[in-house]
Amino acid sequence: MTGLLLTGQILLAQDKTINPGAIWPDSDGNHIQAHGGGIIKIKGTYFWYGEERRKGLDSNFRYVSCYSSTDLINWKFRNDVVKMSDPENLGKGWILERPKVFFNAETKKYVMYFHLDDVTYQYARVGIAISDRADGNFRFVKSLRPLGRPSRDIGQFIDDDGSAFLIFEDRELGFHIAQLSADYMNVEKEMSLIKMPLEGGALVHFEGLYYVIGSQLSGWAPNPNKYATSKTLSGPWTAFNDIAPPGSNTYQSQSTMMLKVVGTNATAVIFMADQWNPSHQSDSRYLWMPLEIGKGKLWLPKPQPWTIDLKEGAVKLVSKKQ
Ligand code: GAL
Repeated sequence: MTGLLLTGQILLAQDKTINPGAIWPDSDGNHIQAHGGGIIKIKGTYFWYGEERRKGLDSNFRYVSCYSSTDLINWKFRNDVVKMSDPENLGKGWILERPKVFFNAETKKYVMYFHLDDVTYQYARVGIAISDRADGNFRFVKSLRPLGRPSRDIGQFIDDDGSAFLIFEDRELGFHIAQLSADYMNVEKEMSLIKMPLEGGALVHFEGLYYVIGSQLSGWAPNPNKYATSKTLSGPWTAFNDIAPPGSNTYQSQSTMMLKVVGTNATAVIFMADQWNPSHQSDSRYLWMPLEIGKGKLWLPKPQPWTIDLKEGAVKLVSKKQ
């Protein structure tokens, strides 16, 4: 059933499908600004955090947005949960990218990790900010080099038993998967170092196997993203294979996360990626698609509108009108 929402003077139909690559209006009708993002689920509500890049932002600050949804399709803007001035004298053009939020059940804190850098990308650290609320204002705590290593793109992974991991790109050594400390305020234990030049890291645990995805290092320009599998987070990992026809450059996108939805009838794994528009970042788009996954294989189908029944875990591709 199509619901109708009255917001101000605009009558908005609630969306029933996710349309990869299209403008994605939030419940106020504005294109969602949550680039390089990550998602957590808290008691039936999904929170999507990402780089806030709408037009007209104050260039002295960096912003992280937070949206919420109960169906993964219709999203409500909650807050710019980060509005941060240069925390460590990084200078003009300093960088805050790829924010990822973890909820720590013991400390009851929301702990955000993000890529913190200077304009030349040489600082290469992660920043940590915390909040008592999912959509509260996050307070910067510190920055660090995870496991003492330089870190640029980061990804997040929460395993089925709740343990939390940071994926980070280390230009010299490769791609790290590392466990967070009990309070999530540190990166504590290396699980794997995959000696591949990969970033945009994402992981999912599906039917007894870990699937890891990364993009190659080509800046904002898309490239063929790759995957490998392993029975354990400490490897050994298989060789990497393409997730989509290599000529499509992952359908002009770059991975940021894989989201697992466990329903009563099926389990869906959603590939979440960014279609960057470097000269108009506020117009960067999202490519979310359910993956074909299982028995060691992973494949990103050609993007098309789709829908999901969260209760059942069932996804349905919706063919475009001719
Ligand atoms: C990409 C990275 C983005 C951003 C960009 C800058 O490789 O994934 O998050 O850092 O480079 O060129």
